[in-house]
Amino acid sequence: MPLAAPDSYELDHSDDHLMHRNSFDDNESNASGIDELDPLRNDRPYTDDTSQPLRSVYDSEKNGSFTKQPLRWLEEQRQQSRLRRWLIPSRFCCCLLLLFVVTLILLLSAGGLWVYKVAVPDDGESEPWYPSPRGGTVDAWKDAYEKAANLVGQMTLVEKVNITTGIGWSMGMCVGNTGPVDRLGFPSLCLQDGPLGLRFADNATAWPAGITVGATWNKKLMYERGKGHGFEAKKKGIHVILGPSMGPLGRLPAGGRNWEGFGTDPVLQGIAAAETIKGIQDAGVIATAKHYVANEQEHFRQAWEWGIPNAISSNIDDRALHEIYVWPFADSVRAGVGSVMCSYNQLNNSYACQNSKLMSGILKDELGFQGFVQSDWLAQRSGVASALAGLDMTMPGDGLKWADGDSLWGAELTKAVLNTSVPMERMNDMATRVVAAWYQLGQDDKKVWPPESEGGGPNFSSWTDEEVGELHPGSPDSDETGVVNKFVPVRNTEEGGDHDALARQIAAEGIVLVKNTDDILPLSRDGKGGMKRDGDDKVNIGIFGEDAFPNPNGINSCKDRACNEGTLTMGWGSGAVELPYLVSPAEALHDGFNKSMIEVTDFPSNDYAEAAKTASKQDTCIVFVNSDAGEGFVSWDGIRGDRNDLYPQKNGDKLVQKVAESCENTIVVVHTVGPIILEEWIEMPSVKGVLIAHLPGQESGNALADVIFGDVNPSGRLPYTIAKNEKDYGPDSGILYYPNGVVPQQNFTEGLYVDYRYFDKYNITPRYEFGYGLSYVGFKLNSLVVNTKGVGGPLPRERPAGIEPPQMDNTLPSPESAIWPSGMRKLSKYIYPYISSTSDFTKGDYPYPAGYDTPHEPSQAGGGEGGNPDLYQTAALIQAQLTNGGGKPADCVVQAYISYPENVTDIDGEPVDMPVKVLRAFEKIHVYDPKRVSVKLELTRRDLSYWDVKQQNWIIPKGEFRVHLGFSSRDLPLTDTFSPLESLNFGGGSL
Ligand code: BGC
Repeated sequence: MPLAAPDSYELDHSDDHLMHRNSFDDNESNASGIDELDPLRNDRPYTDDTSQPLRSVYDSEKNGSFTKQPLRWLEEQRQQSRLRRWLIPSRFCCCLLLLFVVTLILLLSAGGLWVYKVAVPDDGESEPWYPSPRGGTVDAWKDAYEKAANLVGQMTLVEKVNITTGIGWSMGMCVGNTGPVDRLGFPSLCLQDGPLGLRFADNATAWPAGITVGATWNKKLMYERGKGHGFEAKKKGIHVILGPSMGPLGRLPAGGRNWEGFGTDPVLQGIAAAETIKGIQDAGVIATAKHYVANEQEHFRQAWEWGIPNAISSNIDDRALHEIYVWPFADSVRAGVGSVMCSYNQLNNSYACQNSKLMSGILKDELGFQGFVQSDWLAQRSGVASALAGLDMTMPGDGLKWADGDSLWGAELTKAVLNTSVPMERMNDMATRVVAAWYQLGQDDKKVWPPESEGGGPNFSSWTDEEVGELHPGSPDSDETGVVNKFVPVRNTEEGGDHDALARQIAAEGIVLVKNTDDILPLSRDGKGGMKRDGDDKVNIGIFGEDAFPNPNGINSCKDRACNEGTLTMGWGSGAVELPYLVSPAEALHDGFNKSMIEVTDFPSNDYAEAAKTASKQDTCIVFVNSDAGEGFVSWDGIRGDRNDLYPQKNGDKLVQKVAESCENTIVVVHTVGPIILEEWIEMPSVKGVLIAHLPGQESGNALADVIFGDVNPSGRLPYTIAKNEKDYGPDSGILYYPNGVVPQQNFTEGLYVDYRYFDKYNITPRYEFGYGLSYVGFKLNSLVVNTKGVGGPLPRERPAGIEPPQMDNTLPSPESAIWPSGMRKLSKYIYPYISSTSDFTKGDYPYPAGYDTPHEPSQAGGGEGGNPDLYQTAALIQAQLTNGGGKPADCVVQAYISYPENVTDIDGEPVDMPVKVLRAFEKIHVYDPKRVSVKLELTRRDLSYWDVKQQNWIIPKGEFRVHLGFSSRDLPLTDTFSPLESLNFGGGSL
């Protein structure tokens, strides 16, 4: 929608500037969340329905008169007394109800206050960090910023506001659309989900999900998938992909959206995210690192979604925040990511999208983020406060309620700038960051990104599959239609390459073989290898379980894939996509077996009692089970996003047990969103093979058949730990299913000890540890050498000054320039930046948030994208030899963990706790001829440092480090020690 069009419109938000003056203080006002929610409350029609019948009856009683018709009177009296008999208890009930409600509210408030005051740890509050740093401070973005400053310099205030505000839910073709500045050739940006493909787009690839990609541990594939994904987005006219996801990290094994990310370790998550981002952005599309940060569970993630007014607060200490949760975002920024999405939840009792410490302090200052911060959809909970804290774009633009069209920005931001509560400098920075990301990715190239007037822009609609559809379906009074779906092929093109084949390779490499007794796998296609029973002509193989077959109702029949029907290819929610096609496991296995020698029997159900009969007739049984989860806005079978437990769903355990009781050679295939408990059957002797096939996407069956038949050697490794018992993950590893206050509080008490770090610390034996996975060939590692580099000292070098952001004109424009153009047509609910009159806002001496006038010193941990560039200097080089003992080419994941020196103390001599070991580097290596190859892994200064809360910097502790090299977090055959602070140069050998 252009900024000016026929017809006029009246805006009436006369006092809105006042509403936007609140919620400055990150600690105080946001903790209750009350301030910003007031308007919402007032909007709610308040009716005291229960009082109605009471009042009317009382009146009629009072006015009742004796009539000359005694019978009727008697009847009336009877009725009245019946009524009274009913009313007295009902009045009593009402009082009781009222009392109950009042008590509940008091209890909740008191509880909330108690939880807030007592249960919130001291560091469970967020420090104010102002003013928000300007973008344009690093060389790599210099050109983009110069161009952006020039373009934004020509924009009027309303134009600047327009590009920072979404136009409203389903007002354009994408899930997020910004306002354009047609006059200067700046388009409406199309923002589209998500991390595993193009949501709502036709014929795009349904890639394997993030968790599957993490399980490949293959950096090249991570990059290629990103590039393929980016290519498809570009061809569909999408400027910004809403992915990759790296938060949740997986702290809670049952967390509904863990599968969108790459695994429960910051290094694995960070490397996979960075490779994905490089791939997406090399294809010319802006990637979004999401969700920043600590959106670890779905329950209460968002205000009002769960029936309570506030989102959950993830309370994290500074060290765990840096070393665990922010780490992958640092890698993303270092990879040059153009956008970061702030999350729904609160962090330390301040909403992530108005948390100045998070957005301005950590992201923009410390990590040197140069792109723009966009809100998750409705994660913005305040107007002025969020702008001052560092939010640059609000999505989808609507206000506190879904699709209300009542934006906290749009016209409100215009007013806030005019009344000086949002400084012009901040407004300029917001707009410049958005435009700079656009230039940085080359989206100003009209040959690749033609303007809408020349056929450019999104060529698909998120809202209909028909060719012709509504242009602004979210507006009740728009009936404008046009061609919205052009069905542009993007999957397998000459230019983009064969994405189906790539998806298959990733899905195959994301399969983890965890059990292979008697080398039951790989299976021979013609049954050779002793599977056949005496007397039978053919070998009998049974395929069991719904999960082997496609959803009988259609592969895309469940909206947002929010059901677990048929084979599981992805989780549900905004991170899911439409499958363009599906090769089911059963189909691929049928195709793979030589039917002249093998009889394949299908048992496409989870009816375990019946399954036993069929199983007893088989030589080999392949049983499929699964476990599904998704985003909290939809639920399936009582699962509201987060899983209710970690067991296979739909009687999966019983199905395996019954089949395995009757079938000597049982292979179990598990499709899962994450950690799953296998204890009910894993030790059964007849369960000989187990494959964790994760979420494979469209190529599910082909990828599985590749591994089952041995065409691909299994090289996937677990990106999380599989425990024997849910409790083994730790006392606070469960989902908070019931609110513990008006602002539900979730304390991350385990600190650094997430997943394998927890198992190590408490010496708990998992079923299968982080990094674990078998192979059809054996590998050996030897000759470990660690060369260290003289790193200079415990602290990184002084923060480099960086470059000056471009100068902008920060003069306030005249309010008249922001008034609705005359004759402009206005669509209801569509979000515009205009004000109605110059009296729409009140000038005043508005207070800025606490801490605003004492600007923070730039962090010494900052100075470049991802942080101080010195943090990324190589500090040690690990070398070893890897031998393939199996005689055929195969991939092997070599993993390097480090242990910090013992007895580390800080500047005050206080002990610093260190995990037993942490993953710091890995490489997937293809070993064929020669069968022995060199392995080289690098450790950076950051890898050897810990986040020192007192010094607010990364510190390398004094003493002896230990490197452990091997094949999983518990299979580490080689160890060496080194002392980085004691060597001045590369010691032990040259590089
Ligand atoms: C999700 C985001 C997604 C957005 C747009 C939100 O509910 O949390 O991940 O990008 O919706 O669909």
